Amino acid sequence: MHPATVLMITIAISVWLLSRLLSRGRRRPLGAADPSTLDFANLGFDYVQTRSLVRCDWSAESGWSSPRAQTDPTLSVHPMSSAFHYGQALFEGLKAFRTADGGAHIVNPTQNAARLARGCERLAIPPPPMELFIDAVKTAVEDNADYIPPYGSNGALYIRPFVFGHGAKLGLGAAPTYTFCVVVSPVGEYYASGAQKVPGCVIEDFDRAAPRGVGNVKAAGNYAADLMPAAEAAEAGYSIGLYLDAATRTFVEEFSTSNFIAITGDGSTYVTPSSDTILPSITNTMLQQLAADHGLRVERRPIPWDEVASFREVAACGTAVVLKSIQSLARGGEVADFGGRFETFRALYNRFRAIQVGDEPDVHNWCVPVAA
Ligand code: PLP
Ligand code: COI
Repeated sequence: MHPATVLMITIAISVWLLSRLLSRGRRRPLGAADPSTLDFANLGFDYVQTRSLVRCDWSAESGWSSPRAQTDPTLSVHPMSSAFHYGQALFEGLKAFRTADGGAHIVNPTQNAARLARGCERLAIPPPPMELFIDAVKTAVEDNADYIPPYGSNGALYIRPFVFGHGAKLGLGAAPTYTFCVVVSPVGEYYASGAQKVPGCVIEDFDRAAPRGVGNVKAAGNYAADLMPAAEAAEAGYSIGLYLDAATRTFVEEFSTSNFIAITGDGSTYVTPSSDTILPSITNTMLQQLAADHGLRVERRPIPWDEVASFREVAACGTAVVLKSIQSLARGGEVADFGGRFETFRALYNRFRAIQVGDEPDVHNWCVPVAA
């Protein structure tokens, strides 16, 4: 055969092999959704299996391993894991967005890393270091870049980091091994009501968190304890439940899913409870900054339930719910109704969304770019 023909065939085979290799690397794993068929504008908040999750494992001998992506969406753990029996588990929530220029960024991951580390200390879990947390979250987003909802869809890539104890252990004590994982899923609105306001009620018969308990960390067990009260509230027609302080039941704490925020009757002040038993919301911190930018006074203070009826606007805020306007709050026979007012929170929401999707400059340095 002519040497030029041999060269041509060799090149053709090499190109074919290379393209096979590259496409094999990106081939969609079994069970993963096809991003080209996802209806990104109407996602809701249901889990969608993406290409991969990212995991790091901890042992006493080796400490934390480097993040690695796996396409198997399941984890294999020992049935005597402390996460199952003693609730040694924490999770986080944050989001990544696609911007108009085709780029993508993650909002405020350092705050989630810091909050997870505080929770780890409380639950005797070795904390994933800040750099490891950021690296794992970035890897998860970058490896699943085609699942980030497009700019303009109103969706986001929800990022769910979590850490838990596992390994065989019977007696009460810290687990011998830990896994830190990051799962991602494209999402839209958390509450099915969309832009509609939601009716809420005070959870009367149960408390979310005890004084000096674990209400201020994102312990998995806090959420299990809320399932039954939240289901009862939903059955009674309330989309969202508000917890009061466990010690006196006179002060507002927070919603099952989110922090409580309000605008005072005269429209001058953004108020939110200060309490050692609520989760320090990262969204709330960012909204407080935007409220101050907007010329509002910002107050973090105990909020007596008796003051609530005087508020002009009430909302729930958090990563998943973003900023959800509350129509009314019922307690026993009373109903505090906030009418249709949402002007101030709408202005804050619009600015927050604009920063999230890169339409407004990130003047507070919340956004961390990803190569996606
Ligand atoms: N409060 C509770 C109980 C939550 O689960 C969440 C959600 O993470 C929040 C508040 C809001 O926190 P963040 O804004 O950091 O998502
Ligand atoms: C979040 O907002 O990220 C949360 O973790 C709340 C959860 C109830 C979905």
